[in-house]
Amino acid sequence: MSGKFRAAMIGCGAIAQRLHVPDYAVCPEAEIVALCDLVPSKAKLLAERYAPGAAVYTDYKKMLRNERIDGVTVALPNYLHAPVTIDALRAGCHVMVEKPMAASPAEAQRMIDAAKKARKVLMVNQSQRRFAPHRKAREIVESGILGKILHVTGMFGHEGPENWSPEGKWFFRRKQARFGAMADLGVHKADIIRYITGKEVAEISAYTACLEKKGADVEDNFVSCLTFTDGTVGTLCASWTVKGMSASYTILHCSNGTLQVAIQEERALLARLINPECEIEFELPAPLNDYPGTWGLDVSGGFVRAAMGLEEPFCTGEEGKRSLDIIFAAEKSALTGRSVRLGQGAAKKARK
Ligand SMILES: NC(=O)c1ccc[n+]([C@@H]2O[C@H](COP(=O)([O-])OP(=O)(O)OC[C@H]3O[C@@H](n4cnc5c(N)ncnc54)[C@H](O)[C@@H]3O)[C@@H](O)[C@H]2O)c1
Repeated sequence: MSGKFRAAMIGCGAIAQRLHVPDYAVCPEAEIVALCDLVPSKAKLLAERYAPGAAVYTDYKKMLRNERIDGVTVALPNYLHAPVTIDALRAGCHVMVEKPMAASPAEAQRMIDAAKKARKVLMVNQSQRRFAPHRKAREIVESGILGKILHVTGMFGHEGPENWSPEGKWFFRRKQARFGAMADLGVHKADIIRYITGKEVAEISAYTACLEKKGADVEDNFVSCLTFTDGTVGTLCASWTVKGMSASYTILHCSNGTLQVAIQEERALLARLINPECEIEFELPAPLNDYPGTWGLDVSGGFVRAAMGLEEPFCTGEEGKRSLDIIFAAEKSALTGRSVRLGQGAAKKARK
């Protein structure tokens, strides 16, 4: 690779417009050389605003054939993540794919295998790993100040994807989305619980319901109970019917107190430890980029530097799959009415 990292975007919808492309535009190591969307005006708009010289395509296969590209970000309806990622890897590109990375565990594994075969970096945009409160929370857990983690709660809810991407009707169709809230939002918190605590889920019991989203054939609510391989217990929930607030929090009840980690619009971001003797509000680390118009997450920069071998990927394909495996197990539990044990690690569960 010589000169700047030649980046391309496949899917120019809501998340490309708000996160990926603005991040690429301020990444000093990269230039956007091509943008692709079935709706050409979406790609054109992003090219005009962020990358005037970039080529615009409606056919990603043609783009992969015609352009010299080092890496692509795939931000498409969920059912396209695996086939498009595999095509891009086979075309010699590093790939960052949006969450949920795949529509089945087998697909996720095929993506990982394709990356290995192509000797390219595959990353999953578990973007919540980049939020300051989550980075701080992981550091607090690693410091040992909390003592033993006993009980974990992860919740992510908002009013639904129609408010996020008004044209994204696919979010409500199982064929294209594969899951509703349980993967759209639940996989973020499944991943964040793993990222912050370092614990792996051993067993899950889950319930889903579609309570409000008319015409949807996916769930708009998901609740579950977890046990971890070390016996810690917890809950993981997601909802598309939360009104009046954006519910995004992780709470660790520990032997030395409670750590609250939240992303709250009205009170910015926080990581707070409370116990009967003290309350500590931790100072949060700086955003990963601080350009106006970005979310401060530098996800594209993180991908570019990982592909260039300059830093570790913030979420590998394998890590993305481990988090999504929790959701596949949850779905199985909800469908069968039984608790479901997860892969090999689960067998080592220690009931103390
Ligand atoms: N990491 C995060 O925080 C986060 C946040 C929101 C969405 N997402 C994920 O990003 C992905 C995209 O979500 P979104 O909100 O941008 O959806 P969206 O509907 O707004 O955008 C999807 C875009 O893909 C385009 N498209 C569909 N099929 C195509 C094809 N074959 N070739 C080229 N373009 C095609 C559509 O025209 C649309 O512009 C989803 O998987 C979603 O779960 C992640």
